[in-house]
Amino acid sequence: MIELGLADGSLIDELMELTAQSLSHLEIQERFNIIKEIGRGKYGKVLLVTHRFRGTPMALKVMPKASTKLQGFLREYCISLHLSCHPCIVGLFGIAFQSNEHYCFAQELVIDLHNVTNSCQKRYVSSVKRCVLQIASALEFIHSHSLVHRDVKPENILLLDNHCCQVKLADFGLAQKRGTLIRFITGTLPYMAPELCTVALLEGEKEVSAPPLSVEPSLDTWAFGVVIFCILTGYFPWERCMDSDDFYQEFADWCGAEDRPDAEEDVPPLWKRFTPDAMEMFSKLLALDAGKRSTVGEVRAYVDKDWLKKGHGAGQQQAEEKEQVKLVGYENKQVK
Ligand SMILES: Nc1ncnc2c1ncn2[C@@H]1O[C@H](COP(=O)(O)OP(=O)(O)O)[C@@H](O)[C@H]1O
Ligand SMILES: [Mg+2]
Repeated sequence: MIELGLADGSLIDELMELTAQSLSHLEIQERFNIIKEIGRGKYGKVLLVTHRFRGTPMALKVMPKASTKLQGFLREYCISLHLSCHPCIVGLFGIAFQSNEHYCFAQELVIDLHNVTNSCQKRYVSSVKRCVLQIASALEFIHSHSLVHRDVKPENILLLDNHCCQVKLADFGLAQKRGTLIRFITGTLPYMAPELCTVALLEGEKEVSAPPLSVEPSLDTWAFGVVIFCILTGYFPWERCMDSDDFYQEFADWCGAEDRPDAEEDVPPLWKRFTPDAMEMFSKLLALDAGKRSTVGEVRAYVDKDWLKKGHGAGQQQAEEKEQVKLVGYENKQVK
């Protein structure tokens, strides 16, 4: 019997080989009508297009050849394709091609898109929980295929409606097989786990002294914890997970305290709006030691508990639907 879907991710290599051999060459307009640009990230732009012959609307991810390696494009496309059957992962049509200037692949159009934090002021805790459960399910699916997303952040979470009834995780541009070694990264983001920040090449540095880091699902768990904080508050908990960042240091001190103090006054200032249950959840998702970090599915144990203290948008179910999660002005950069 021929086995497909190998758990070690080697099916991805096979898919990449096959796709490379059959990647057709065409200009976008030969096959699609371009309606408008609907998104832009660090690596490419996404166009709303309709298929010229069938009229089907699609989101075409377009990556300039000048800044994209063929292998990188093939990896993103094949990983996306492999995972796109999950209801909380953006769907694909199996259409990939190259033009003179770009590599492109077509995705399901996520209509009426709202970035998860753009409207966070209006977001109710019950919506956040719906979103969190769906992203957890998507990540578990990814991890069960021995893959790691590595770019879990609000910009890559697409909402199909304002109440987060349907949410899709997108952008597999950084996804890798579990166990891949990262020697260094350039620059840091607030979503990056402390162990990832140890291999960040800082300004003026020529090399990283820390040993290479193995890509593990725990990187996604950390980013997921940060995302939950972000969508509940509207701002980042810190800029980067390094000792030089006071906000991170405060949280790390709280996590590291021998018998973690439950007393209200010991919780770092940015985290005071959260209930002890929510803090327990965060302490598991954001365990400083990657080996002790929980899996993303741990959130399920907390969805029936209150996350925000009364007066911070939580409370009884009825009140919650009326209440808004307040955005407190803070010197930290607000989430995009
Ligand atoms: N399928 C889609 N439907 C609608 N908008 C999308 C879709 N995919 C991506 N976008 C929008 O385009 C932006 C950039 O896409 P993304 O795949 O994240 O590119 P990058 O790899 O450059 O970050 C996203 O943040 C989102 O706003
Ligand atoms: Mg992106």
